[in-house]
This record gives sequence, structure tokens and C-alpha cells, in this order.
Amino acid sequence: MDIFDKFKNLGPLGQYNRRAFGYFMFPKLEGELGPRMKFMGKEMLVWSVNNYLGLGNHPEVREADAQAAKDWGLAYPMGARMMSGHTNYHEKLEQQLAEFEKKEDAYLLNYGYQGMVSIIESLVSRHDVIVYDSEAHACIIDGCRLHFGKRFVYPHNDMVNLEKELERATKITNKTGGGILVITEGVYGMSGDLGNLVAISKLRKKFDFRLLVDDAHGFGTMGETGAGTSEYMGVMDEVDVYFGTFAKSMAGIGGFVAGKKEVIEFLRYNLRSQIFAKSLPMPMVIGALKRLEMIRTRPEFKENLWKIVNALQDGLKKNGFNLGKTESPVTPVILEGGIPEASQITYDLRENFGIFCSIVTYPVIPKGVILLRLIPTAGHSMEDVEYTIDAFSKVKKKLDAGEYPNEMMDAEKIMS
Ligand SMILES: Cc1ncc(COP(=O)(O)O)c(C=O)c1O
Repeated sequence: MDIFDKFKNLGPLGQYNRRAFGYFMFPKLEGELGPRMKFMGKEMLVWSVNNYLGLGNHPEVREADAQAAKDWGLAYPMGARMMSGHTNYHEKLEQQLAEFEKKEDAYLLNYGYQGMVSIIESLVSRHDVIVYDSEAHACIIDGCRLHFGKRFVYPHNDMVNLEKELERATKITNKTGGGILVITEGVYGMSGDLGNLVAISKLRKKFDFRLLVDDAHGFGTMGETGAGTSEYMGVMDEVDVYFGTFAKSMAGIGGFVAGKKEVIEFLRYNLRSQIFAKSLPMPMVIGALKRLEMIRTRPEFKENLWKIVNALQDGLKKNGFNLGKTESPVTPVILEGGIPEASQITYDLRENFGIFCSIVTYPVIPKGVILLRLIPTAGHSMEDVEYTIDAFSKVKKKLDAGEYPNEMMDAEKIMS
């Protein structure tokens, strides 16, 4: 058999390729990044971009990015950090990130995803046990897959089960002489609820473990200064290894890991995704320094974000929408229905209301559930919020009345 034979079936997501490509999947959002963008030539109110603080298209950020590209180009520095890709700017950004996170040191990652895979892989040996949340992001799962020792999953945020898994893990490490790594997210990116960092920290009284937190969605959005979910919960010191990405609040690309000096020193020499890959180009580093400075010195971005978040979430709840357990800007609107209805709703929102949001269905979430995921940003206005609540209420009424045909919309037909 040819390994290419399996391409006939594109997998759980790709199975909808023909009916989804270009409209429901791989849509092209055009124009300036922000709450108003174009989709298939029409202006949309966009709620699907993780540009939480609105920095992505801020004139000062654009200026810093352009100047850095002019001064340095996209190539420099060439090579991996360890060989020839190290600069004062990379170091400066790391120092500032460490300071912001109240950690002793930090190290840059070229991509959050690959960085996380490597962090997990390098922190554990075959004698260690990983215990992680069942709704962990794919990069955490991939990191765990590289682990040669035992790994246990606890049901999402279920602290009773986490305790049970820690008991199991402790029995094993007592025999192997290894240690335990607990991994959770700060903000869960689909549901918006928070990893229970306080309860996890309390379990330290009973068990020995180290805590790694993926705060991709919490960095910049949560906590008094925007330092993340651990700051918000008052447990910054309890997080041994803090991970953040530049792909969301920082509106860039790359990421970082922060922790005690000896942890970062170890990671610097052992993160395979950094040792064997080219370091971040200068415009990404200088651009990240600019964004971090704006986050640190100008709280108004986060304040504006939360004004929009609170208005949107309160308004939706008042209108009877189920937003699950979100405590963060991530706003999941949970509806009942299958994939056909989901496609009809998406079409209706885009074509008749000019609203563009992400839609999540089975197999990413359970069958019979439709999740419309809204990402509020500092750039949205109160009028955007009111308009959206009104539109969503109309859509829900239609869904409840059974007005959406139980028929999957066809992207090819829509786009022809
Ligand atoms: C929870 C979480 N972790 C990690 C990542 C990966 O980050 P990056 O986009 O920087 O690779 C993401 C981004 O999608 C994420 O949501």
C-alpha cells in the first residue's frame, strides 16, 4: 500500500473540505487588521481575531515593525541562538519579559507551539510522570507524546481527579526516583474558563510536583498589569514554568518561557526546537519590545478590552445565552444543533448581519453542540457590542423556532 493512499480521506477536519473550503474553513479576511475587515468583498464586523489589545495595527506598532524591517531586514540574525543567532535585542526582550512576569529569567521561542512541545520534552525524563488537563491545547498533547515515561490526564479542571492522578503518579515516582510535572492552561482558549491555579497550588501541601502553565490567552489580558492568569489569581510564585505566546495579545509571532534562573539556563541548552532552528528575526524581536512596552506602560488597552468584554458577555447573558464558564475575554456562545445548522447560522451571520465569528463544531466539541466563539478586542466599540447582541438574539430565535434548514451549506455553491 502507498502511504499516499490515505489522502483520499482528509481526516476529521478535512472531510468537509469541498463543502467548507474558502467559506467555513480557510476563509480570507482582507484589509487592515481590526474589527472591520472584508470577506468576499463585503465589510464584516470581525470577532475572530486574537488581537486582544488591538496592538496588531496600532500606528506606533506598525511604525516600529516597519523601521525594524528597514534597519535590519528579515534575515538577521542568521542561525540558531546558540550558534550565530544571538543578539543584544533578544537578550533585552528576555530580560524585560522576565521582569514583567516577576521571574528570574526568560527565553524566547520561535513559535509558541513548537516551543511548548520542546519545553515539555526537555523538562521530563523517562522516570518522571506528567499529569495534565484533558482540554489541554494540541501543543501540550504533542509535548506529552514525546515523553517516554507515564502520563496521566485529569478531566478538565477536576481537582478531585487531579488529586487522584497525583496519588497514582507519586506511587510511580516513588519507585522510579523521578518527579511529577503538572500542566494546565491559564485561560482555556475555546471555553474561556481558567485553569484552577489556586487549587492546583494548594495540592503542593500534599504532593511534590512542578507546575507548567500555558498562558497563551492570559498573557496581556489577565491580571492587574496584564502579566497573566497567575497574576490574576495571586499565585505568580506558584508557577514554576510560565509560557506565553506573542501570537495573541502581542499580535506578532514567537513566544517565551519564564522561570527561575536554573530552569531557563537548562532550557537554553536543551530546547531542541530552539537549538536546531533559526532564531527570531530582528523585526519580530524589536516589534515585541515595542508591544511589551505598550502593554507595560499603557493600561488603557487592557481597560478598553475589558469594557468590551464585560458589555458583550453581560449583554449576551441577559439575553439568555449560555456562555459556559468563561472568566476571560474568550466568549463562547453555546447553542444546540448539528453541523448543518452551524453552517446555516454562519452564513446568516455573515451574509445578512455582516458578522464574522469563528464557528466550532464536532469533532472539536461534542456532537449536537455549536460553539460560536467571539474574541472581543480593545478596538471594538459599544455599538459593535449592541449590534452583535441584537443579531445573535435574532439568530437564536430562528434556531429555536427551527427556521434553519437541516441542510449543510455548500461553500462551493456560495462562492460561485
Ligand atoms: C493555549 C495555546 N497554547 C499554545 C499556542 C501556540 O502558540 P503559537 O501560535 O505562538 O504557536 C496557542 C495558539 O494557538 C494556544 O492557544
